[in-house]
Amino acid sequence: MNWWHDFADQIEPDAPLGSLTWFKLGGRARWLFRPADADALATLFVRARDHGVPVKVLGGGANVLVRDGGFDGLVVRLDGEAFRTIDGPCGALRVGAGVDLMPLSRQCSDKGFTGLECMAGIPGSVGGAVKMNAGGRFGDFGSSVCEVEVLDERGLLATWARDRVGFGYRRSELGERIIVSALIELREDDPARAKERYDEYFEYKRRSQPMADNSAGCIFKNPPGASAGALIDRAGLKGTRCGGATVSTRHANFIIADRGAVASDVLRVVDMVRDGVRRAFNTELEMEIDVW
Ligand code: EPU
Repeated sequence: MNWWHDFADQIEPDAPLGSLTWFKLGGRARWLFRPADADALATLFVRARDHGVPVKVLGGGANVLVRDGGFDGLVVRLDGEAFRTIDGPCGALRVGAGVDLMPLSRQCSDKGFTGLECMAGIPGSVGGAVKMNAGGRFGDFGSSVCEVEVLDERGLLATWARDRVGFGYRRSELGERIIVSALIELREDDPARAKERYDEYFEYKRRSQPMADNSAGCIFKNPPGASAGALIDRAGLKGTRCGGATVSTRHANFIIADRGAVASDVLRVVDMVRDGVRRAFNTELEMEIDVW
């Protein structure tokens, strides 16, 4: 019997991952696990570890590039009911890791609760947004988070207060721990004003970014005091292409994947951009997205 036999109804072996990511490319997972609840998650997580099986969590797939060879391990996807709950009044919401970020931020703003408008148009899941402190020029998700419920290395649920989570620019101290839910605190505002801000931020994003194309959003972090997009643009790298991957001509920090593109095309363009920016500005760009 294999190590996951009693979870066969929640596991898909040799599962394609491309369709679960915004790039729409990349290889397969040896196992894709959609746990029914936190108990199933904890049990199989510990078992995988005991069998030496590497584990990764796939959130909304908005910030991940899966290599063409895929991932030889267990990919966890928290998209079941148990991980998509939203409890409590808008001022203090307990939100599951699998909750979709875009409808959440839209609904909170519509109801006049302020804090998540800065996430307008930013795709992903709550778990992913916590882990990497998603955000942009108008703010970040971590600023609204009070505490995070995580599955720790031993497979036990633990609550981390915001100070311990250590939110920074597109980062947290959560490492490989699995985020189960977050408690977020929003302030009450005039609904018309909160909605107006949301619409304004969304419009900024729509105007300046290639939202309709397959991409993982911004590829590189902004170096201290500079904008990665502006540097790539000024280095004349917009439109740089390899196979089916191209540097967006609209926002230079986006790489667009055409139909038929493979992950190695994207990685080749990443190298070309880094080389170009290093040559032009002697600046090292650090990737923002996760490469599996
Ligand atoms: N710029 C250019 N050329 C370009 C792109 C940008 O000159 O091709 C200039 C802009 O004109 C602006 C400056 O660079 O003066 C900064 O650009 P922008 O306002 O678009 O912000 P950004 O720093 O590139 C950040 C986040 C985005 C987020 C936006 C808006 C990072 C790495 N990126 O972009 O997040 O949507 O602010 O809030 O922090 C993401 O994380 O995936 C992402 C897209």
